[in-house]
Amino acid sequence: MQTSLALGEKSQAIIERDSEVMSGSIVPRYPFVIERGAGARVWDVEGKEYIDLAAGIAVTSTGHCHPNVVKAIQEQAEKFIHIAGTDYYYDVQVRLAEKLAQIAPFAGDARVFLTNSGTETIEGALKLARWYTGRSQVIAFFGSFHGRSMGALSLTSSKIVQRRGFSPLIPGVHHVPYNNPYRCGHQRQETECRAHCTCASYIENMLFQRTVDPQDVAAIVLESIQGEGGYVVPDARFVQELRELCDRHGILLIVDEVQSGIGRTGKWWAIEHFGVEPDIVCSAKGIASGMPLGAIIARKEIMSWEVGAHGSTYGGNPICCAAALATLDLIETEYMANAQTQGAFLLDALEELRSHHPTMRHARIDGKGLMVGVELVLDENRTPAKVIRDDVELVGIEEGVLILGAGTSSIRFCPALMIDEATLSEGLQRFDRALTRAEQAVGL
Ligand SMILES: Cc1ncc(COP(=O)(O)O)c(C=O)c1O
Repeated sequence: MQTSLALGEKSQAIIERDSEVMSGSIVPRYPFVIERGAGARVWDVEGKEYIDLAAGIAVTSTGHCHPNVVKAIQEQAEKFIHIAGTDYYYDVQVRLAEKLAQIAPFAGDARVFLTNSGTETIEGALKLARWYTGRSQVIAFFGSFHGRSMGALSLTSSKIVQRRGFSPLIPGVHHVPYNNPYRCGHQRQETECRAHCTCASYIENMLFQRTVDPQDVAAIVLESIQGEGGYVVPDARFVQELRELCDRHGILLIVDEVQSGIGRTGKWWAIEHFGVEPDIVCSAKGIASGMPLGAIIARKEIMSWEVGAHGSTYGGNPICCAAALATLDLIETEYMANAQTQGAFLLDALEELRSHHPTMRHARIDGKGLMVGVELVLDENRTPAKVIRDDVELVGIEEGVLILGAGTSSIRFCPALMIDEATLSEGLQRFDRALTRAEQAVGL
């Protein structure tokens, strides 16, 4: 890391206290201490303002503290805060489940199980797939991130630090390359990979012939757009071939839309960009604007497990459900369309920056809606510009913009879906300045 930031006194004091008491596994890498947020802007405890292009890892989908969401939370908190949806009924939970079933990305009826987080949706979906199919094995992809609880971690294949020291994980998980033409997992040229992706045929012709009987495979778990792995958009054909593979062998297609779902890509679900219907969808993050909520949405005939098979004390907390209903309403009426418009603006603006920055000249700039990644590279051989990427996140803080990395050398742009063009372009100017400084620091 090149840069060390001068910190204000209040920030310094909180960071020092944090380092004495919080788990070392979550020491934040970015010295930003929030005081408050509004829309796509946040302020630190010294009173400095920032443009937030990270949205709390793609979570504050309606912006910080949207009045409708705040009101929904306040009103629900005054009625009741908890009763346990596994034991008793309440209307706000049913209304949310009805809405989620209505927007499910598959034909026919849906059923919904509510959780508190993304990783719990993956745990539940894995259990459901095993229960429904009576099969034990699962296929997941290199570069994927599905969470950190044991089942989800067994699928996660993003960074070794996330898995190191936690073996044995759950057995029967098979990792295969994810379609990424810019860095083909089968070492093929980009044009060749795009013309004829071999990722699905590898599963059929290699895995199913040598390692695992397809009749033992319960599910393929797919991020419709890879998130933590670098904001990688796969080719539609790859996703379609996975669906065909699943249909041929009675395997369930589970899509992890924890980061890509709920309007972020300009459609309710990123999978809709590929013309494919999954069997189970996992959602969290942006669903409730920052309140902890997740949802497993499955075809009705699949979510047919017996009473007592799965449950959660807090899952579907009424305040979170109220926040989610307000969020979904805002996204449906305004922000999903805005994500499309601003996403197109963002991609164009980043393309314009390409010629101004040595690390963007040969970069992968790609995305859907407001889920856009820039993979910074040093040369035409696509050598990852990791040091510069790490630095630009920090220098960005000095310049007044919050941006997050993903993958080895990507920057992800995942602002609130309500962001307007003026704020977005101001944020990009700050990013532009930060990247220039990070590049200059290594002599580029
Ligand atoms: C695609 C995806 N799945 C699952 C998770 C895990 O979600 P959580 O951190 O809420 O457990 C994440 C978190 O980043 C994610 O991006």
